[in-house]
Amino acid sequence: MTRAPSRWISVAGSVLLLSLAGGCDEKLRDVAGPSPGLEPTFSSIQQLIFQATDDSGRSACTQCHSSAGRVPAAGLSLLPDDAYRSLVGVASRQKPGAVLVIPGDPDNSYLVHKLEGRSDIVGARMPRTTGPFLTDGQMLIIRRWIAQGAANN
Ligand code: HEC
Repeated sequence: MTRAPSRWISVAGSVLLLSLAGGCDEKLRDVAGPSPGLEPTFSSIQQLIFQATDDSGRSACTQCHSSAGRVPAAGLSLLPDDAYRSLVGVASRQKPGAVLVIPGDPDNSYLVHKLEGRSDIVGARMPRTTGPFLTDGQMLIIRRWIAQGAANN
C-alpha cells in the first residue's frame, strides 16, 4: 500500500483546511503560502493575487486582465479601480447564467470555478497559460472573502 501515506497526508490536509475554514483568522495567515500576508479582504486579494506575482512564480492576473493600454482579456480588468465592480454581482461574458462573484456563495461564484478548473468552465483554468494555479490555501482565503459577503473592504 505505497499510496496510503500520501492519501493520509491529503486527508490530514483537508481536515486542516476544513477546520481553518470554520475557525480562526490567525491560522488563515499560515496557509497563505506563496502570498504571505494574504487576508480575506478585497484589497488584499486585489494586491496579492490579481496584481502581484507571488513566491510560486505565478504571473499577475493583470498581465492580461488590465485596461491600461490594452483591451483586458475577457473584458475583465482586475486593476484596483476596476476589479470590484467588474467582479461582484457581474455576469460572466463567456458562460451564460454564470455570475463571477456571488456574495455569500463561493461554491457558485464563477471566479472560483475558473480558478479551481471545474469541469463546467468555458475556456481555460486561470491563470491561463502562465500558471502555476492558485494553492488550496490561497483559494481558501478567496472563498472566505466571498463567504463573508464579498465586501469592498
Ligand atoms: C496569460 C493571460 C491571462 C492570465 C495571466 C490570466 N488570465 Fe484570466 N483570462 C484570460 C483570457 C484570454 C480569458 C478568456 C478565455 C478563457 O476563459 O480561457 C480569461 C478569462 C477569465 C475569467 C472569465 C471571465 C468571464 O467573464 O467569464 C476570469 C474570471 C479570469 N480570467 C480570472 C483570472 C484571474 C483571477 C487570474 C489570475 C489568477 C487570471 N485570470 C489570469 C487571460 C489570462
